[in-house]
Amino acid sequence: MPNIATWRAMKAADIPAVDELSARVHIDYPERRSVLEEKFALFPKGCFTLTERDGAIYGYCFSHPWLEGVPPSLDTFLETLPKNPSSYFIHDLTLDPSMQRRSLAGRLVPTIVDIAKGIRVPQIALVAVSGSQPFWMRMGFRKTDDPALQAAARRKYDESAVHMQRDLT
Ligand SMILES: CC(C)(COP(=O)(O)OP(=O)(O)OC[C@H]1O[C@@H](n2cnc3c(N)ncnc32)[C@H](O)[C@@H]1OP(=O)(O)O)[C@@H](O)C(=O)NCCC(=O)NCCS
Repeated sequence: MPNIATWRAMKAADIPAVDELSARVHIDYPERRSVLEEKFALFPKGCFTLTERDGAIYGYCFSHPWLEGVPPSLDTFLETLPKNPSSYFIHDLTLDPSMQRRSLAGRLVPTIVDIAKGIRVPQIALVAVSGSQPFWMRMGFRKTDDPALQAAARRKYDESAVHMQRDLT
């Protein structure tokens, strides 16, 4: 099947489908729809959806400015974004299983990198779960060399979670 899915800016109306996809893929890491809605409301510029020609949603990404160090908690409201961000956090990049392993997620990563560079932070961070670490390594991320951050990542998700970062300087 040819790749005709494309990434575009997320719209508020996408969130029910994004929530449904999130619940289906991240069975072990549930998040309330209101928590996803808050991320979109706080930083829509960092939110994207992967859509097919029929308009159906097959992927999404939430990302936002953040502080270097401990990642935000799962299924928890951010309340506000830092006034002086020192990092950029990719909360989640997820594709429908039918779209995985077709190099589609990687097409969005340069856009995220440009957004992070635009707010002049020195790094992008994320927590890799569900065996996605090799994908993120190909995207230029490396395992963060900080046992406390690795422990925080495992507390946030589970034993498989790996805190990763990519320097922008
Ligand atoms: C991880 C993910 C975003 C990668 O996107 P993608 O477009 O499928 O990535 P690519 O096609 O460029 O590369 C696929 C590679 O990602 C890694 N990967 C990890 N988990 C994967 C999964 N469930 N499905 C597909 N690839 C996965 C593998 O290294 C895979 O390489 P392989 O096919 O040689 O094993 C996507 O597979 C996905 O949505 N996975 C489920 C949700 C998830 O874990 N998101 C990451 C949250 S941090």
